Amino acid sequence: MGAMPQIQDFRDAAFNPFTAAKEGGGEGRIRDFHPELAKLREQNPVYDGDIKRHFGLDADLTLLDVRHVALLGAREVKEACTNVELYSNAIYMPNLGVYFGRSVTTMDNPEHARFRRLFQQAFGPKQIARWGEGIIPRMINRLIDGFEARGHAELVSEFTLFFPFHFIHELMALPVEDRDTFHRLAFGQILLTFDPEHGYEAMEKLRSYLTETVTARRAAPIDGDFMSMIATAEIDGERLPDDVVISFFRQLMNAGGDTSYNGFSTVLCALLNHPEQLEAVKQDRTLVPKAIEEGLRWNSPVCMISRTPKRPVELAGVRIEPGDHMALILPAANRDPAAFPDPDRFDIHRGSRAHGAFGFGSHICIGQHLARLEMAHAMNALLDRLPKLRRDESMPPPEVSGFMLRGPEQLYVRFD
Ligand code: HEM
Repeated sequence: MGAMPQIQDFRDAAFNPFTAAKEGGGEGRIRDFHPELAKLREQNPVYDGDIKRHFGLDADLTLLDVRHVALLGAREVKEACTNVELYSNAIYMPNLGVYFGRSVTTMDNPEHARFRRLFQQAFGPKQIARWGEGIIPRMINRLIDGFEARGHAELVSEFTLFFPFHFIHELMALPVEDRDTFHRLAFGQILLTFDPEHGYEAMEKLRSYLTETVTARRAAPIDGDFMSMIATAEIDGERLPDDVVISFFRQLMNAGGDTSYNGFSTVLCALLNHPEQLEAVKQDRTLVPKAIEEGLRWNSPVCMISRTPKRPVELAGVRIEPGDHMALILPAANRDPAAFPDPDRFDIHRGSRAHGAFGFGSHICIGQHLARLEMAHAMNALLDRLPKLRRDESMPPPEVSGFMLRGPEQLYVRFD
């Protein structure tokens, strides 16, 4: 048996990767950006320029020499996601392609379809149902145990930041003593776009840890283990290439952890700020899935996904060339009045799944059903165990902020 993979934390022990994007990256300044997005969309559903710069943020360091446009309309965003003949994911290579490696998000067909099929099977309905009966409720309840008796809590730092991440960590069957470091590095690696020093450090440390871990699982697969299953899976009689397997796990922490953390936090934030709708959900739990869909539409946690055209195109009168960065702004598409009547109103009875918070088309989120299940479990567990859950009126109201990933910084609640 080989040596156990070793995980190493940031050299600078004081570095806080969880707040770095909002503090160091200045993204915390961006609060309710929907009125400005609506104004721009009305002028033209394709914004000719760098939308990050428009909001006063620094340009993405990984895409400095590139021209930027931003798609703000639901129709345009959907078109760019679904027309894979015309639009490519290769533009992810300088950022995602560096911090996760050759993951499915960076691929176009036929490579994408080939690998995606296998990864999608790993998140199939049977698997998810099994997790929904065991690991998911177990780790959600374990976290609630920590504050239930107190009568009040701050749910970001005590709950939402951890439950999706703990799930992925447990799914990968990694040692529990590595968990906090792993969490910090996973957050750290996506900082590459504005903080290369910490971004690279995190990326290298995670890559080496996961490479050793995958190699160990290939040499000695664990029966029934998710990671061993992927590490030893075959397509057409051949094992998946090492870099694709390792990239998949490098991506999973962020794709499944940060997104669900911000997603669930934004749903809770919306309900806490609309107490009559929170009350309705408490009274009628069939509204839980609807509240989740509406929360994700109303304040979509993933702000920007990327594409580039394979040949010159014109969208809404704007010419776009291969190599240009198209920023698909999901929160803008999800509040397009052409797709959602009265789009700025948060209304859980709308409950439509037609929003683009999980993307559209062949790259649509692989984990969407898992994310929905996790969030529904988390919501039901909170309401079962804290029936008097409400906003803590003595504390500032929660507010969604951020740019690349959006969510509230705090969720102060009472339940006494
Ligand atoms: C609320 C939670 C989530 C949100 C809002 C979200 C959002 C998204 C979006 C917008 C995309 C499309 C990216 C693109 O087209 O360029 C995506 C892709 C992806 N997501 Fe999620 N996600 C969530 C949860 C998860 C979970 C729980 C997992 C797995 C554990 C996951 C794994 C993935 C993967 C692997 C892809 C790449 C798919 C591909 O390129 O074919 N996500 N996600």
